[in-house]
Amino acid sequence: MNVTRRTLLGSALVASFVLSSQVFAAPALVMGFSQVGAESEWRTANTLSIKEAAKSDGVTLKFADAQQKQENQVKAIRSFIAQKVDVIAFSPVVESGWETVLREARAAKIPVILTDRAVNVTDASLYATFIGSDFVEEGRRAGRWLLERARKTPNASVNIVELQGTVGSAPAIDRKLGFEQAIAANPKLKIIRSQTGDFTRAKGKEVMEAFLKSQGKNINVLYAHNDDMAIGAIQAIEEAGLKPGVDIIVVSIDGVKGAFEAMIAGKLNVTVECNPLLGKQLMQVARDVVAGKTVPKRIVTEEGVFPAEVAAKEFPNRKY
Ligand code: AHR
Repeated sequence: MNVTRRTLLGSALVASFVLSSQVFAAPALVMGFSQVGAESEWRTANTLSIKEAAKSDGVTLKFADAQQKQENQVKAIRSFIAQKVDVIAFSPVVESGWETVLREARAAKIPVILTDRAVNVTDASLYATFIGSDFVEEGRRAGRWLLERARKTPNASVNIVELQGTVGSAPAIDRKLGFEQAIAANPKLKIIRSQTGDFTRAKGKEVMEAFLKSQGKNINVLYAHNDDMAIGAIQAIEEAGLKPGVDIIVVSIDGVKGAFEAMIAGKLNVTVECNPLLGKQLMQVARDVVAGKTVPKRIVTEEGVFPAEVAAKEFPNRKY
């Protein structure tokens, strides 16, 4: 074979390789993602999961941090529409007030996927699917754990203080509802104070200090809508000279490593899992939605409950 023929054959092979890799590679996808913020350990893990999954799945991610403000999310979504992304995903700070911007996305023919938190809209066709936890069930799980615990002291009144998540957010509304539903089975269990701690450690600590000031030794249980607020509150309890996990039972939600450490130290009694690792699932569903495939309207994340007794054994398995 002469040099010219060999070169021609080589070029043909390269060309066919390039062509076939173009045929088989997943098509390029541009996703605009509006994140709630960076308010908690959970949120940090969620952001990382989305960024890593986008990278490994070859999705171009336009990421915007809303700093826990709805107006920033609306701005980000409008900017994604102007940039003509293929798909928009977002974790809504609060449940209501989304109709207008979601209609704008629909008019631009850009599908929208909800992750982690739900929206309250009259027209459910404004979004393609919602991937995330069942927050009502998480609240019920926390409540059921407490009911079980209260069986040890059947005649005692149980005074509960509640640290709610961000006002108007799906997890704050649903976790409150689920918990109240569960504890209704025992009239001895009463929520004596309930206030938002905005899902942050700093606010959790601040509000718990106020609870302790007004209620003193009257508090038997703290129910926090997330681990970060519980961890902040644990500090406040210690600074008040009390033992968290012993003098005040601490129940929270998320299952982050910080909560496991607190459980191992005997300061937190139980955490109900809320899985933030939604990235892989989101990328897969986004491809399906953009390809016009039918996807389930609701994709629920599977989760467990981790009491302090299993914390040390489970800790090495935790991914966030
Ligand atoms: O929406 C999920 C909640 O938001 C997590 O429980 C909390 O930690 C986060 O900030």
